[in-house]
Amino acid sequence: MNKKHYYIKTFGCQMNVYDSERIANILQTLGYSPASTPKAADLIIFNTCHIREKAAEKVFSDLGRAYAVKQERAEEGLDTIIGVMGCVVQAEDEQISVRAPFVDFATGPLTYHRLPEILAKIGRKKGKTIIDTEFPAESKFDFLPENHSSGGCSYLAIQEGCNNFCTYCVVPYTRGVEYSRPVKDVINEAKRLIDGGTLEINLLGQNVNSYHGEDASGKEQNLAYLLRELAKIDGLKRIRYTTSYPADVDDELIACHRDLKQIMPYLHLPVQSGSDKILKAMNRRHNSADYLRVVEKLQTANPELRMSSDFIVGFPGEEDSDFQATLDIVNHVKFIQAFSFKYSRRAGTPAALMKNQVEEKIKKERLDILQDLLFSYQLKFNKESVGKIMPVLFDMKGRHAGQLIGRTPYMQNLHAELGKEYMNKIVNIKVTEATTNSLSGVMEG
Ligand code: SAH
Ligand code: SF4
Ligand code: F3S
Repeated sequence: MNKKHYYIKTFGCQMNVYDSERIANILQTLGYSPASTPKAADLIIFNTCHIREKAAEKVFSDLGRAYAVKQERAEEGLDTIIGVMGCVVQAEDEQISVRAPFVDFATGPLTYHRLPEILAKIGRKKGKTIIDTEFPAESKFDFLPENHSSGGCSYLAIQEGCNNFCTYCVVPYTRGVEYSRPVKDVINEAKRLIDGGTLEINLLGQNVNSYHGEDASGKEQNLAYLLRELAKIDGLKRIRYTTSYPADVDDELIACHRDLKQIMPYLHLPVQSGSDKILKAMNRRHNSADYLRVVEKLQTANPELRMSSDFIVGFPGEEDSDFQATLDIVNHVKFIQAFSFKYSRRAGTPAALMKNQVEEKIKKERLDILQDLLFSYQLKFNKESVGKIMPVLFDMKGRHAGQLIGRTPYMQNLHAELGKEYMNKIVNIKVTEATTNSLSGVMEG
């Protein structure tokens, strides 16, 4: 019999990218290998995101296309399993079997370790969608096969779920309450990744700095402790962690930015809005002054540190003066990268029911203004990099042969003419050109 193939399409955040890697691990242990197109796959999986309406709706159009592929393959006598995983499933499990009844299985982000049993069941339950969205008592991490490094940079999930309940956000409902992996599990996974060639680890969590995993004696430890333990591992050159919640940045964490040279001088710390009125309505536990204080402390600990952020414009009740406060905070912090979004009304969240929703036209105008400002700081920072020598970790092939793409300490993408022997290595590069989205450079020396 021919080997079976899988194709996974991933939407959403880095946590979903990590989950997709772990799903691929499971499938490999079941004898599947990767397919380069859905048409060549016996199993097509969508790992979905529910954060904004657009992301969630895209899944249904993609599913329609997958169904067409399934029918084409059926004409050739080939069976195809279609699966949906991730946050849309957790939020809209019933919708999936109504809107896409051809889906064979749907599992939420906390239950994908049960994939082997689900796949075994499909043979027996043909024609019915198998749905598994119960929040499990067990941690999926205890049941997943060991993962291995797939390159110079690796993600490592250390925390999942969120107890913050920002009023606009679906994550506490899709990923459940906060859970932290034990210290030993994280260290073992890190060592495995490093042994396999990883030089940079990006620790992931929806609220990563609320990490409180147990050590061997059962005592809860914080992210600062974990960072110090990780920094002791030989061969780990770079550490990042994302995404942090401003109110949970404590002094011990700030001290790590002073003491640990492995922590990169770039931190994603979403502020969402510069207006205290809006931050309160969002149920964020920080105001703009708190945010600025944290940034100042971090930049005192490491003067090289630069910030990135997420922003939402057009949150219910946002007036011109609130939006101006957001522009003010951007002008103050001068973020070197940022993600900004129009507020998207999500069913089941408190903000969706707020009366003072902002018109779409105003949201769009504000987003354009904000993005112009954000891009101007991003471009300015990138231009200031020209002429500097930076250690760049190359982990992707460029568009043409002989070109590699890597990341500077500040998460800028950098293109260089380099042979593949430099893949997954850190190379000193002199930056020669800069645009808003990327840098180019040449090897130094
Ligand atoms: N846990 C992280 C990020 C979670 S989602 C944090 O607290 O920052 C990533 C980003 O999506 C958020 O930071 C927010 O800016 C945006 N987002 C979340 N819900 C949204 C919504 N309903 N509409 C628009 N943007 C949203
Ligand atoms: Fe969502 Fe807020 Fe939790 Fe981030 S901190 S995941 S925005 S609820
Ligand atoms: Fe999306 Fe779920 Fe991540 S909703 S942003 S994939 S946690």
